[in-house]
Amino acid sequence: MSDNSNRDGSLGRFRRAVLTGGGGFVGSYVAEQLLAAGVEVFCVDNFSTGHPSYVERLLDKPGFTLLEADVTEEFEVPGKVDLVLHLASPASIPEFARLPIETMLAGSAGTYRTLQLAHRHGARYVLASTSEIYGDPQQHPQSEEYWGNVNPIGARSVYDEAKRYAEAMTVAYGRKHGVSVGIARIFNSYGPLMRPDGRVISGFVAQAVEGLPLLIHGDGTQTRSPCFVEDTARGILAIAASGYQLPVNIGNTEEISVLDLARTIREIAESSSPIRHVGADEDDPRQRCPDIGRAKRELGWEPRVPLAEGLRRTVEAKRLERQSAETPVPTRRQSPQARGGQMHVISVVGCGYLGVTHAAGMAELGHEVIAIDIDAEKIKSLADGRVPFFEPGLDELVGRHLASGRLRFTGSYEEAAAADIHFICVGTPQRSDGSGADLRHLDAVVEQFGPHLDRECLVVGKSTVPVGTAARLATMLHAVAPAGDRVSVAWNPEFLSEGRAVADTLRPDRLVLGTPDARAERLLREVYAPIIDAGVPVVVADLPTAEVIKSAANSFMATKLSFINAISEFCEASGADIKVVTEALAYDARIGGKFFTSGLGFGGGCVPKDIRALLVRAGELGVAHALAFLAEVDAVNMRCRDRVVELLRKQCGGSFAGRRIAVLGAAFKPGTDDIRDSPALHVANVLHGEGGQVAVYDPRAMENARRAFPALGYEATLLEAVRGADVVALLTDWEEFALADPQRLAAAVGQCNIVDARHLLDADAWQRAGWTYLAPGRPGLQQRAMAVST
Ligand SMILES: NC(=O)c1ccc[n+]([C@@H]2O[C@H](COP(=O)([O-])OP(=O)(O)OC[C@H]3O[C@@H](n4cnc5c(N)ncnc54)[C@H](O)[C@@H]3O)[C@@H](O)[C@H]2O)c1
Repeated sequence: MSDNSNRDGSLGRFRRAVLTGGGGFVGSYVAEQLLAAGVEVFCVDNFSTGHPSYVERLLDKPGFTLLEADVTEEFEVPGKVDLVLHLASPASIPEFARLPIETMLAGSAGTYRTLQLAHRHGARYVLASTSEIYGDPQQHPQSEEYWGNVNPIGARSVYDEAKRYAEAMTVAYGRKHGVSVGIARIFNSYGPLMRPDGRVISGFVAQAVEGLPLLIHGDGTQTRSPCFVEDTARGILAIAASGYQLPVNIGNTEEISVLDLARTIREIAESSSPIRHVGADEDDPRQRCPDIGRAKRELGWEPRVPLAEGLRRTVEAKRLERQSAETPVPTRRQSPQARGGQMHVISVVGCGYLGVTHAAGMAELGHEVIAIDIDAEKIKSLADGRVPFFEPGLDELVGRHLASGRLRFTGSYEEAAAADIHFICVGTPQRSDGSGADLRHLDAVVEQFGPHLDRECLVVGKSTVPVGTAARLATMLHAVAPAGDRVSVAWNPEFLSEGRAVADTLRPDRLVLGTPDARAERLLREVYAPIIDAGVPVVVADLPTAEVIKSAANSFMATKLSFINAISEFCEASGADIKVVTEALAYDARIGGKFFTSGLGFGGGCVPKDIRALLVRAGELGVAHALAFLAEVDAVNMRCRDRVVELLRKQCGGSFAGRRIAVLGAAFKPGTDDIRDSPALHVANVLHGEGGQVAVYDPRAMENARRAFPALGYEATLLEAVRGADVVALLTDWEEFALADPQRLAAAVGQCNIVDARHLLDADAWQRAGWTYLAPGRPGLQQRAMAVST
């Protein structure tokens, strides 16, 4: 194999390098090779995604200096430098989902600052770019001439576009200031030491060695071309040494499907772990394979370590790491994320949308988490890495922390009692008679869990509850727990929104800490230290205040929505157009456009029942008059459903009997499979009840809907649902519906009638395609439709 990269002569011209991201996986290998070649390394890393274990082997080496600093801000480099390597950036999907703005800044501000540094020192500069700049490629294999196919606003865009920007900035800066710049387009790298941070090989290796299911995103036919990390580092340094100015692919050409990769790793690890498929990642590239002609030609570089050998070395290293971790087991391993605060053993009681997300989020922050539920089937499924509901990014996070060992699921209160802090995340639904919140599940937790609490601990409620509940539960707990009043109760309401629960948990708008004393506040601050350090505001309150904050937040959002829906009713009577009214109001900074769309109103397992519970509680406290308007908020909301039914009736010629109606949407909102109090299913049931032949389609919630409403008709695709329909009812605003082609659908339906209950579609485009388009609060469209039909 011809390979003249990293010859002593070439790297030997450097004396001292600044290496950003040296506290990360690839950076640590780059540092190791530089030191071996006699180049001093000044490593700059803020350890946002890196880990002390990467630099441990370097700290004692002569010539290695570590500065903990953020490269997007000013940092000092004493002495002369002749090489700058910019690797600092979050680099895995969960990391850049957790740190979206930081990722963009590492590529933009970080690149700019490090280029300035190189300029000041007259140093050679190398940017670590990525094969992700090719996006989901339409050229295969990918050569450096290919410009890529990137979704600029998708889930991966913060990383892909930051790197594309970084490349553009590097080239522009090099041209303008005469800095010698190089760009390494790195393809998936793997190797020993790599932590399971959401990347495919480190995940599979950890899962196989731990005997956990190997979780494949999507069907596994997508391909990758993994490059052994020592080869990657050698490639980056070959670019540095060469003085070459154009981007160079650094990757292996051994292309393999993700499914075969999982099978190979399982075989090498001699593991009997099952292979499981979970939801596909958004914009996941179908193919990845570099054309490395340029690297061979210009640098004399090509990978040396074949995939099978690299995987063997990686699995072996993981096994050794596991053995040393097992003797003796430190239950409180220090994690990078928990650096700022103390790591805790936490239990999370209740494994629903809130509980599982909170449990996985706490593991992500570095804590050891025991999640408990009384539903044995649910626990088994979660322990196998299967999240029994859809929440974007959650199965990934759960899988990662099952693999990291920081998250486990149990049905035993006794086991959960080993924790110091217990988060209660059970449901607080509406009572069946409508008389406020049903707190039976909370009370049951106190009764069943309390007797196991035999030492000082903190119980933290996260569920939404009527004010006064926390104090009542504290009294109950003091009575049933052997530790008595050494069990404190705090309330830390959760504000996450389904469909974006992971991001909301790791990056909430604010944290509300309702605490009885300073100790409880300190513990909660320790739990959330990484979030607080990242600048998330903290509101500290007493228990009743914390309880009221949550109810008030939901009531305000409900009021805002019902306000605009009430105006929508008024528009219908007055001939105005609610869509235009809403747009104009949303531009007013005092009003804002968030949670401010009219249509079918709100639903779900929280907001409707929370406002009703608040109203009931206000009555109990003798201030029903103060919140009486909430009854009207509720009534306006429920009327939205009736108004949509009436629009549909109009399109069906006055009666639903025998009419075929395509119902698009079953989830209460997009991004979730939750159908609790779903406005879409409410409408579907009315149509069905009045003799309509309903065909429901939803991208995610079909199973739940079918289970709850077996009498409704269901179709597996959007096209099947609309086939032969007399009218299409668009009831949940999924992106799939927004992207539907009106002409294509027109060819499938019986009659081109649509009610867009969510104001999702472009009315003009649909009308041009021949549809009679109606939407609530837009009487002008109705008149236009009638004019056309007469
Ligand atoms: N590993 C791969 O497969 C791969 C593939 C393509 C590109 N890359 C690129 O290589 C580089 C290193 O990737 P990695 O796999 O070692 O990831 P990593 O997450 O292990 O390392 C990145 C390091 O950058 C640090 N960092 C992030 N933002 C920072 C900031 N603002 N200031 C200072 N330090 C910061 C992190 O703490 C971490 O130590 C990244 O630029 C990545 O985009 C890696």
